[in-house]
Amino acid sequence: MRRFRRAVFAKRAPAGVVVATVAPSRRFRTSDAPRARSLAREIGRFARRAWTRFWANVWGDGEVDPPRPRVLVKVRACSLNPVDAKYLYGDKCPRMFRPFVRGVVDGRGVGFDFSGVVVEADANAEFRRGQAVFGVAPPLEGACAEYVECYADMIAEKSVNMTHAEAAAIGLCGATICQALDAFCKVVPSPVLVIGASGGLGHLAVQICKCEGAEVVGVSSARNLEFVRSLGVDAAAPYDDPDSTLEEHLAEWGHGHKKFKLILDTVTSNAAVDAQYDYCSRLREIVDDDCRYVKFGGTPTQWAFAHIRRIGLTVPFSDFHKRAPPFWIYFRGLERQLRYLRDMYDAGDLKPRVGNRFPFTNDGVRDAFALLRSRRAVGKVIIDIDEN
Ligand SMILES: NC(=O)c1ccc[n+]([C@@H]2O[C@H](COP(=O)([O-])OP(=O)(O)OC[C@H]3O[C@@H](n4cnc5c(N)ncnc54)[C@H](OP(=O)(O)O)[C@@H]3O)[C@@H](O)[C@H]2O)c1
Repeated sequence: MRRFRRAVFAKRAPAGVVVATVAPSRRFRTSDAPRARSLAREIGRFARRAWTRFWANVWGDGEVDPPRPRVLVKVRACSLNPVDAKYLYGDKCPRMFRPFVRGVVDGRGVGFDFSGVVVEADANAEFRRGQAVFGVAPPLEGACAEYVECYADMIAEKSVNMTHAEAAAIGLCGATICQALDAFCKVVPSPVLVIGASGGLGHLAVQICKCEGAEVVGVSSARNLEFVRSLGVDAAAPYDDPDSTLEEHLAEWGHGHKKFKLILDTVTSNAAVDAQYDYCSRLREIVDDDCRYVKFGGTPTQWAFAHIRRIGLTVPFSDFHKRAPPFWIYFRGLERQLRYLRDMYDAGDLKPRVGNRFPFTNDGVRDAFALLRSRRAVGKVIIDIDEN
């Protein structure tokens, strides 16, 4: 049943806004987010402001940075990411943490990527009403909704050449790849191996690395090889060829000499449910010692270490001292990457693949999540929120 919510944007948006929330049943529904969540968010913002002011007075000159400008956007299209399914279904979350995770996510919004039109913006935001924008919503704010409130530094103006569906397909995945390349290599080395080249992250990774001048080899299932070739890879290797192994295919392409300098692995996660995808151990033989191996999935422990490392601490005995740290996107200020990707699009170097499209109904969103969880999606899974 489709119900309407009134609470979350009560101050800024018209009443009757539909959002996709994580329901306690662990399944998608479009519904009212409980009022308590909205109150909790306000309390959280107040606590953050108080904390910032406290530190400014204790360590600084009492000056507090102005709050990050926020923008209210009427969403036209959103795209789903595997992380949405992780919130929704608790995928990969160890059993002991599930009650805690449920407490945090139940009733909150799902969806990060969106494209839409600005309805209202804070005075210090550089956006104005009616401007078409695309970007990423903060975690649990819910971009899979008729309206989303987000930070101005997490969106960019949409190119007039892009459709809303294409723009919605770029945000989180595109920014993740750009940031990972920035973090792990000053200049994109060559050759690069992209594992999962037909997926949301992988198909953008291929195009970004090609645009940076690298030689790129993409790995996908045999049925998606043509799509991967259409992205402009120098070679495409299947991982499910009954006649030869992936290693044999890669060796054949490299004549046994060429060794990868960078591997972008969008498939391995080290989680028990993904044990069969451990490319990281399998490919050790074909990479140089100086090869950077970047994973985009990880276990909850690895994410915890990633978080600790982010605040500048090293973690003794952690997996970070090895060669395959998982990379985790930085949300704050990702508009820089969004602008870069938009310019790439305008220059004809980036073509986000709009995969399957679903309507914004309970059934539509349920089907979209089923496809996402099957790990058989090609390109991005899009939900058309408002086609007008
Ligand atoms: N760290 C971050 O900040 C960050 C950001 C975004 C995403 N991620 C993570 O990155 C991962 C990938 O995201 P995504 O959006 O690309 O997911 P996706 O769109 O669902 O892509 C999955 C791809 O994996 C491929 N695949 C499935 N089984 C495979 C196998 N055995 N070997 C090789 N490829 C296989 C599939 O291609 P075929 O059908 O051709 O096999 C499919 O295209 C997820 O775990 C996501 O959570 C992390």
